[in-house]
Amino acid sequence: MFVKSDWAWIGAGFMAYSEATFRGILPAYGERTESVFDLKNFLERQRCEVDALLERMLPAKTERPSVIHEAMRYSLFCGGKRLRPILCRVSAELCGGPAGCADAASVALECLHTYTLIHDDLPAMDNDDLRRGFPTSHKVYGEAQAILAGDALLTLAFEVLAGHPAPVPYGPCDLILELARAGGSRGVIGGQVEDMEAERKAPDEARLLYIHQHKTARLIEASCRMGCMAAGGTEAQAASLAEYGRCCGLAFQIADDLLDVTSDEATLGKPIGSDRRNEKMTWVRLRGLEAARAESHRLSQQALESLVGFDAAARLPLESLARYMVERAS
Ligand code: IPE
Ligand code: IPE
Ligand code: MG
Ligand code: MG
Ligand code: MG
Repeated sequence: MFVKSDWAWIGAGFMAYSEATFRGILPAYGERTESVFDLKNFLERQRCEVDALLERMLPAKTERPSVIHEAMRYSLFCGGKRLRPILCRVSAELCGGPAGCADAASVALECLHTYTLIHDDLPAMDNDDLRRGFPTSHKVYGEAQAILAGDALLTLAFEVLAGHPAPVPYGPCDLILELARAGGSRGVIGGQVEDMEAERKAPDEARLLYIHQHKTARLIEASCRMGCMAAGGTEAQAASLAEYGRCCGLAFQIADDLLDVTSDEATLGKPIGSDRRNEKMTWVRLRGLEAARAESHRLSQQALESLVGFDAAARLPLESLARYMVERAS
C-alpha cells in the first residue's frame, strides 16, 4: 500500500517525466518514436519558440518606412530551420542557464544569418531566385531594398545584443564581440569573399577548408559559444561547445554542397545546381559525392566527441543535432 511519501515520489517522478517530454529528451506518452530522443518534435517546438521571440523583437511591418520592415520580416519569416538560435538555446541549457537567458543572442544570430542569406542570393553574388521556398528578397523588393533589408537585419542583431549583456564572468560587450568576430571579414564575410574568388578555380583542399570554416562554421561555432556565455558557463564549457559547433558547421556546409546536387527544389526551398552554375569550389567537386558524404559523417562524429565532458543525458539534444546536420533532407 502507498503511504504519503510514496505519492510524493510518484508525483516527483511524473514531474520529471513531463519536463523531459517537454524538452524532447523522452517521447511523450503514446507518441511513436524511432529513438529515445525525438528530434523532429524537439526541432518543431524550438522553431516555434524562436519564431515567437523574433516576432516580439522585430519592428512591426507597418512602422515607417514600412517597405524595409516588411522586407526584413519577409526574409525572416518565409521559412528557415532556425538552427543557429536552436544551437544557442540548447548550449545555454546544457550549461545550466535559466530559461530565456539566450533569447537575445538567439534573435541576434538569426537576424545576422538571414542578412547573409539575402546578400548571398543577390545577382552580384550567387544570383539565386528562391530562398526558404519563396522568391528571394531582391526578386520581391528589388536589389536596393534587399541590400538595405540585409543591412538592417545585421544592424538589428547588434542592437538586440547591446540591450542584453552576458552575465558574470563575462564582460558587457563579450556577446557583441563574439558575434562581430564571427560575422566580419575574419568570419562569414571573409569566407564569402574567398568563396567568390574561388569560382572557376581548380579545387584546392586547404582553400576549401578556409571557405567552409569562415562562411559557415564560424557562425555555428559562435551560436554554441554565445549560448554558453549567455548562461554564464565556464571557459572549458565554451571551448568544448565551440569545437562542437566548428565540426558541425563544417559538416553542415558539406551537406549543403551535397544537397545542391542530390536534392530537389521543392524539398530544399532553394535552387538546385546553383554551385555548378557558379562553378563553385565544393567538396563534391574536390572529391566526389561519396567522399564528401564520408567527410561530413566524420566531422559529425568529431563533433560528438567534443561533448564527452557533459552529462550523457543532458547532451542528447546536441548529439542528435550533430547527426541531423548531415542526414537532413533540407
Ligand atoms: C543556409 O543555411 C546557408 C548555409 C550556410 C549553407 P541554412 O540551411 O541553415 O538556412 P535556413 O536558415 O534553414 O534557411
Ligand atoms: C553561403 O553558402 C553561406 C552563407 C554565408 C550564406 P551557400 O551559397 O552555399 O549557401 P546557399 O546554398 O545559398 O544557402
Ligand atoms: Mg554563396
Ligand atoms: Mg548561395
Ligand atoms: Mg549552398
